[in-house]
Amino acid sequence: MRITVVGGGYVGLVTGACFAGLGHTVDIVEIDAEKAAAINAGRAPIHERGLDALLEKHAGKRLRAGTDYGPVAEADLSFVCVGTPPAADGSADLSMVAAASRSIGEALRDGKGSHTVVVKSTVPPGTTAGLVVPAVLEHAGRDEIGFAMNPEFLREGLAVDDFLHPDRIVIGSRDENSGEAVAAVYRGLSAPVVRCGLTAAEMIKYASNALLATKISFSNEVGNICKSLGIDVYEVMEGVGMDHRVSPHFLSAGAGFGGSCFPKDVAALVSLAEGLGEEPALLRSVLDVNDRQPLRMVGLLEERIGDLAGKRVAVLGLAFKDNTDDIRESRAIPVIAELLRRGAAVAAYDPLAVPSMRRVFPGIGYAASAADALRGADACLVMTEWPEFSALNGEFDLMKSRVVIEGRRILACDGIEGICW
Ligand code: UDX
Repeated sequence: MRITVVGGGYVGLVTGACFAGLGHTVDIVEIDAEKAAAINAGRAPIHERGLDALLEKHAGKRLRAGTDYGPVAEADLSFVCVGTPPAADGSADLSMVAAASRSIGEALRDGKGSHTVVVKSTVPPGTTAGLVVPAVLEHAGRDEIGFAMNPEFLREGLAVDDFLHPDRIVIGSRDENSGEAVAAVYRGLSAPVVRCGLTAAEMIKYASNALLATKISFSNEVGNICKSLGIDVYEVMEGVGMDHRVSPHFLSAGAGFGGSCFPKDVAALVSLAEGLGEEPALLRSVLDVNDRQPLRMVGLLEERIGDLAGKRVAVLGLAFKDNTDDIRESRAIPVIAELLRRGAAVAAYDPLAVPSMRRVFPGIGYAASAADALRGADACLVMTEWPEFSALNGEFDLMKSRVVIEGRRILACDGIEGICW
């Protein structure tokens, strides 16, 4: 099939490359000409396992990128993969979805055959039917266009693998034929397909992310109670997660969740619910717990080593999780801000994310290795699960005292004082 992917960012590029890998002909429409050129040259502008190999094989051949919407007219389907960043009030900013819908509509004015417009961007329930469908139809000036909503469930770092081995493929559609057209694109993948309406598909994405975020905040709240009782929340959640109705995943307590999806999507769902006159008490609490959790780490540190003024604190892990340089909503940001507020000197280290964090905190110390950050430190906070942090052991001898607060339970070495969560 011939597919256009609108947006060559993280979701669009992975989706386009994987569709090419499945044998389709893919054109990516990307407004940033430099990014488009990089894709055509087979260079991935993002760090994603398996993506380089796909680009090497298909870029410039079955996978092309360009800045104009021309290829839409010839394509069987177009996938909208543009960003939906948070607006100031927590709601999703849909301006890029609206612009893409208009441009797809204009391009389809010249198209003759059937075409299905598929929204893959995470959009608040009601957006495809209420915004995308009318915008495309108005600008296309013709009616025989199908519409579908097909959310992505890709984890950063594992996106190619998640795309090729999904737990399920969700296809919401306005009519049977549009749903069939999307299902045909995924033939070759073995996964159950969930067919539903446009708005239900949008809600499945939000509800999935909100439930995963809820599991994490729940574990954090239980973890805080466990801390007061002097028991181990990891032992507790292991016992809880063995119930197949719960599942063992996303129960790790610690610093809380960050990233480009969970905080933004839960906030957007809260905002949507409030707009509908609902009182989303549980979802608001999920965000509250997540906002407080990094400050609790700093509180635990102060309980352990006293006043932080003038103390040197090593912060290991700056991105929102390991194996990425993405610092969006990283829990390290509120932690570092709080350490500075309390007068501590920070020595920060991350295998990938130091350049990104320098833009947020230009004035703190950055170390070239975990050992350098730990040298002479009064305490250490571990924020992410980098394997190289789990392997640390003798390096803790470089500290003034071996006080470590773990935001993720990853350390295996003995003799550390004050490991928490
Ligand atoms: C997530 C979803 O997993 C994916 O399905 C969705 O489409 C996009 O958002 P991602 O943001 O890449 O993917 O990160 P993920 O690996 O899910 O982790 C999110 C955050 O939760 C990270 O900060 C992580 O450290 C934290 N986390 C995760 C916990 O604090 N505890 C856990 O048990 C699991």
